[in-house]
Parts: sequence; structure tokens; C-alpha cells
Amino acid sequence: MRILVTGGAGYIGGTLTRLLLSQGHAVTVYDNLCHSKRLALPADAEFVEGEVADRALLESTLSRGRFDGVMHFAALIEAGESMKRPEIYFRNNTSATLSLLEAMLATGHDRLVFSSTAACYGEPETTPILEDAKLQPTNPYGESKLLVEQMLRWMNLSHGLKYASLRYFNVAGAIDGYGEAHEPESHLIPLILDVALGRRANIKIFGRDYPTKDGTCVRDYVHVHDLAEAHLLALGALGEAKSRLIYNIGNGEGFTVLEVIESVRRVTGRPIAVEECPRRPGDPAVLVASSEKIKAELGWKPQFAELDQIIFSAWKWHQQRYAKDI
Ligand SMILES: NC(=O)c1ccc[n+]([C@@H]2O[C@H](COP(=O)([O-])OP(=O)(O)OC[C@H]3O[C@@H](n4cnc5c(N)ncnc54)[C@H](O)[C@@H]3O)[C@@H](O)[C@H]2O)c1
Repeated sequence: MRILVTGGAGYIGGTLTRLLLSQGHAVTVYDNLCHSKRLALPADAEFVEGEVADRALLESTLSRGRFDGVMHFAALIEAGESMKRPEIYFRNNTSATLSLLEAMLATGHDRLVFSSTAACYGEPETTPILEDAKLQPTNPYGESKLLVEQMLRWMNLSHGLKYASLRYFNVAGAIDGYGEAHEPESHLIPLILDVALGRRANIKIFGRDYPTKDGTCVRDYVHVHDLAEAHLLALGALGEAKSRLIYNIGNGEGFTVLEVIESVRRVTGRPIAVEECPRRPGDPAVLVASSEKIKAELGWKPQFAELDQIIFSAWKWHQQRYAKDI
């Protein structure tokens, strides 16, 4: 296959790019490097430095050959930042995606896998969350992705665009030689690993008064390799009879912030100092997925379900990444 990967210089898009290349597929990475480094690109992927809002560049890129699918990872990803600057999330995540959809339609490309998010659900009424739960984001980041899901539905009905929208929960872990390295970093596991490495004095815990077993937020962590496999299954399914797929991608088990910190202490053998801070606006108390739908319909089987396994892979990568300056 030949795949266009937007955001392929980032954490998840970069993992998918490597997985696709390792399976003999051809990949064109399309990224403006606003949150990643050129160094993160694998040598055997074609690279186009570009902005997703640039419809003309996307059209010329897509016209250079027939792509079997587009995987759209490029986005701004920080819920906290989106509470302060919603406009950049709607511009970068929603409006830019419309340019991508128009470019796909104009060049006759009709298969898309879209990186959606658990943030589309907001504060869930029941747990684990099913795909038909109410969609009521509590932050502009989630809203910016939900708006894309709504556009996709209409592009499917009006133009026959085939798409899979994968609502990821918390993605973590690393494959051999590549893992999470956001700049700036806002995700819990790499931040705690920074403390383990002595690069950060302590880990901030935002809120000790949530209605959970130890008062800290509960999240569902899925290994990036398992998530990558879900993309390949979804893209394959779109080639067959299905034209509109929506799946949660998580582990079905939630861990509190304190449990994640404890797991890092166990895996790394290092002390982790903590600092208790007030809640952050927009953070739901519990986000745990039911991923039974993709398991039943596409046969998705996560291989790295244990939290310690996920953290072990992240720890291995985290120690290497500073040597590579990624
Ligand atoms: N990491 C998670 O836990 C998580 C959870 C849910 C959903 N997601 C979604 O997964 C996708 C990938 O996340 P990630 O963690 O790999 O983030 P990342 O920041 O590592 O990667 C995003 C990439 O997109 C690029 N980019 C951003 N805006 C762009 C634009 N307008 N034009 C071109 N390139 C642009 C950045 O330079 C970066 O390389 C995002 O869409 C995110 O919303 C991630």
C-alpha cells in the first residue's frame, strides 16, 4: 500500500510510519514540524514539509500518485492549552482538516483514518464508555475533534468518503527505538519518567478530590503498538463493504494518577517525588473505554495490556531519546 500520513513526524504518526515501512508499505509523511523534529523522520519515508491547511500543497502531493489511504494524525493535542486558546484548536484541528478532506475529494482519494479522542465524550455518564455514549466535550480540544467527526459523517453521506474515526484514550509506551517525545510535554507517563531520570524535580498531581478510589483522575492507557495495529485493521476494513467506522481504542481498565506513579517506581526502581496541585479546568474524573466493538468487528487484540509493560517500554525509550536529542 501507499499511505499519506499527516503528523507523521510526531509520536503516534511516527510509530505508524515505522510500522507501515516495516511491513513493506510506502509512506509519505506530511508534517509542518510545529511540534516535532526533522530528526524524528525515518530515512525511508518520503517527507513533505507542509501545513494541513494548505489545500494546494496537499492536492499536488496527493496527485503525485495513487494513495491507498490517508491517516490523519496532525493536530494540536493539549486540552489545557485549548482552554486558554480555543481559536488555535478550531483553526488547526477543525478548519485545516476541512482542507485535507477537500483535497482528498478533489484528487479522488476516498479512504481516511482519523485520530479522534476520548475527549469527545467529556464527563461520561457511565463507565466503561461505549461509542454511542453522549458526546459532550469539556474542552475545546475535544470539541475541535468532534467537529471533524461531524464533517466526516456528512462527507460520507454526500460524497461517499470512507472513514474510520478512532477515539483514542491515553496512548503510551514505545516501539523499539521510537516513542513519546512531545515538545512541550504534557502527558503523564513521560513527565513521571523525566522525574525518574532526574530531569524534573517532581510530578504535579492535579486534583486529589475527584470521586475516585484515591481522589486522583482515572485514565485508560493503551500501548502505541496496539493502537497502530488498530489503524491497519480499520484501513483494511474500509476497503471492504464498510464506509463509516467509529471505534474506541483503550484497554478497558482505568488507573489513577497515583497508581501510574507507583508503577513507574516499580519499573524504574527510582524514587518519584510528587507535588499536589489544584484541579485543572476541563479534566474529567474518569475516562475508561469499552473497546469491545473493534475487538468484535475487526478482531483487534491488544498485546500490551499490562500497565507495567507499557511503562517498561516507555522507560527504555525515554532513556535513549535524550542521547538522540529527539
Ligand atoms: N497522544 C495521545 O495520547 C492521544 C490521545 C488521543 C488522541 N490523540 C490524537 O493523535 C494524534 C497524534 O498525537 P501525537 O501524540 O502523536 O501528537 P504529536 O504532537 O506528537 O504529533 C502531531 C504532529 O502533527 C504535526 N502537526 C500539527 N499540526 C499540523 C498542521 N496544521 N499541519 C501539519 N502538521 C501538523 C506536528 O508537527 C506533529 O509532528 C493527534 O491528532 C491527537 O489529537 C493523541
